[in-house]
Amino acid sequence: MRIIKIFKIITIISFLFLLQVFPQGKGSGMGIQRDVFGKTDDDRIIHRYTLSNKGGIIVKIINYGGIVTELLVPDRKGNRDDVVLGFDSLKPYLADHPYFGCIVGRYANRIAKGKFTLDGKEYKLATNNDGNHLHGGTKGFDKVIWQANPIRVEDGVALVLRYNSKDGEEGYPGNLNVVVIYTLTNENEFRIEYEATTDKPTPVNLTHHSYFNLVGAGGGDVFNNELMIDADKYTVVDQNLIPTGELRSVEGIPMDFRTSHPIGGRIKQVEGGYDHNYVLNRKGDSLSLAARITEAKSGRIMEVYTTEPGIQFYSGNFLDGTITGKGGKVYRKHFGFCLEAQHFPDSPNHPEFPPTILKPNQKYHQVTVYKFSVKK
Ligand code: GLA
Repeated sequence: MRIIKIFKIITIISFLFLLQVFPQGKGSGMGIQRDVFGKTDDDRIIHRYTLSNKGGIIVKIINYGGIVTELLVPDRKGNRDDVVLGFDSLKPYLADHPYFGCIVGRYANRIAKGKFTLDGKEYKLATNNDGNHLHGGTKGFDKVIWQANPIRVEDGVALVLRYNSKDGEEGYPGNLNVVVIYTLTNENEFRIEYEATTDKPTPVNLTHHSYFNLVGAGGGDVFNNELMIDADKYTVVDQNLIPTGELRSVEGIPMDFRTSHPIGGRIKQVEGGYDHNYVLNRKGDSLSLAARITEAKSGRIMEVYTTEPGIQFYSGNFLDGTITGKGGKVYRKHFGFCLEAQHFPDSPNHPEFPPTILKPNQKYHQVTVYKFSVKK
């Protein structure tokens, strides 16, 4: 009897330990907790990490696809709302979904016909989007299990995710070691840092694919979210969203977000909605402001800073009401927008675009920060 009792106590203690990876310090509001989110079809446990900061922001991330499942941000009155689309459980994430909240790679966005030539050799990638390659192929970085380690950092808490992509995976050359660090700082920044090294030259273009709505996820369309993008030009695409190579000025057309405009203001004039790569005005590759979204009702503001030369603004055009997300909310067309900091689509086939080939003696490094504040 006594042994059973002791055993029970040990079990409870270890369970509590597992749950509280880094419990919140007294009154600090900052911490990381871990719990079980679900199991994959081959019985692997997927964990969910809950990061919180002093400013009342909470972000939940799972080690399947590095998916941000929830991002709770206070409004001007201090009420928290979840501002990203997603699901309540693991199962729908394992099935087909439009890249909710995930890490995208090895090459985010499209590569024409899934083909590129490197050092005289032609490589053939998976063609999973109208004959083109999209977001890393049939099993991109959004569908793999990442090794996760929570850590405390100087300005907040972080989750370090690691994945080793094998030579030949989805058709890409070289073993690619990828590290993604998600940090929630006490300055209300959600920072994503990506690093990668390879043993053969390979294209690399990593990004993050959260669908935001600063009103709150599932609370309607994003038409009243007001957007500014610091870009004079965008990459013109054909009907399959493959760049033609032309960089066109946004001057005088509905693509112009150099001053803040409601997303819905001119969307009807853009065939299919926005799904375009903007050529950021930034110089060099230091972290610079790329976009700002403000939402008048809640007072929420989100600024996007990045080291990348481009940002894909996607207005959730393919959402069509067939997906039911968190809390039973149906996600209809334009219920979320993505701001995917990236190199330009199809760069491996456009020598005139900033290069995306990573060589064995180099380190890929990109940083993107989503910074939150409120307008009083
Ligand atoms: C990106 C693409 C879109 C679409 C979504 C996923 O944003 O640019 O065209 O493929 O991902 O549905």
